[in-house]
Amino acid sequence: MTSQEHYDPSDLPEPGSPDDINEFISELDVNAAHTRTAHHATAEQIHQSEAVGALIRADQLVAGYFPGVNILNGSDLYAKQGELVGIIGPNGAGKSTLLKALFGLVSITSGAVLLRDEDITNLRADQLVRRGVGFVPQTNNVFPSLTIEENMQMGAYQDPKSFPERFDAVVELFPTLGERRKQRAGSLSGGERQMVAMGRALMMQPSVLLLDEPSAGLSPALQDEVFVRVKSINKSGVTVIIVEQNARRCLQIVDRGYVLDQGRNAYTGTGAELANDPKVIELYLGTLARA
Ligand SMILES: Nc1ncnc2c1ncn2[C@@H]1O[C@H](COP(=O)(O)OP(=O)(O)OP(=O)(O)O)[C@@H](O)[C@H]1O
Ligand SMILES: [Mg+2]
Repeated sequence: MTSQEHYDPSDLPEPGSPDDINEFISELDVNAAHTRTAHHATAEQIHQSEAVGALIRADQLVAGYFPGVNILNGSDLYAKQGELVGIIGPNGAGKSTLLKALFGLVSITSGAVLLRDEDITNLRADQLVRRGVGFVPQTNNVFPSLTIEENMQMGAYQDPKSFPERFDAVVELFPTLGERRKQRAGSLSGGERQMVAMGRALMMQPSVLLLDEPSAGLSPALQDEVFVRVKSINKSGVTVIIVEQNARRCLQIVDRGYVLDQGRNAYTGTGAELANDPKVIELYLGTLARA
């Protein structure tokens, strides 16, 4: 929970010299910094104890696109084997950056990412795929000029021999992909493309799948279908971390969630806890839910 710094109005200085006022302000800053540090130590400690044994965990990630400009400012996250974990938060909060950092696409300047307790911080995306991490980016997540089948072959390029068996497994989750295997991905509807993107990531049989806004741009009916699919991917044994703009819907399907704001965890809890938290509703669900 975020904390607020309080001060007693009787602490206000008598009108005095600018030096007195500056001294008063810097004391306030020191107090605020203490409160912040204490708050973060607690949230971090809770993360540290809960994340033990997690399949994947990120500890105090600091990352950004340019040296000296941090987008993630000490973000913690974990997912246990079989969990479905959601990340919500306002536009520009750093949700995509967090997923990209987990997948080696944004350089992490401090903190660590562990997969089954093995350090995978800043490994390349192809190395992560080999270790069982799958990623579906927010945009440009299919090859539009290739057929569905060819998209799936791209997904299995590190292990082409596994193609027939993996394609069958993916078609079991997404029957349409089998029926339309010769159709170009570019000619599919938005919802069907999301299925292709998820199917492609599943071709390498990931143990953890990172999904960035799979329901974005879809009609409400198709959004529902995506959420159902995500749930069934998770039920098939894949640990899922999903970023979503449809925050309310996301919190209904996840086991646990994180609210990310300005590159930091603002709130965390079970999906139900977050969905019913008055502060989360006021700050993050009102406008997001209507978006
Ligand atoms: N490739 C990039 N190069 C430089 N800055 C970037 C890049 N991608 C994102 N940013 C910046 O990082 C910040 C966080 O962006 P990010 O895409 O992670 O947010 P988000 O939470 O995913 O937002 P949205 O809900 O709009 O998808 C923003 O200020 C954005 O401008
Ligand atoms: Mg994003």
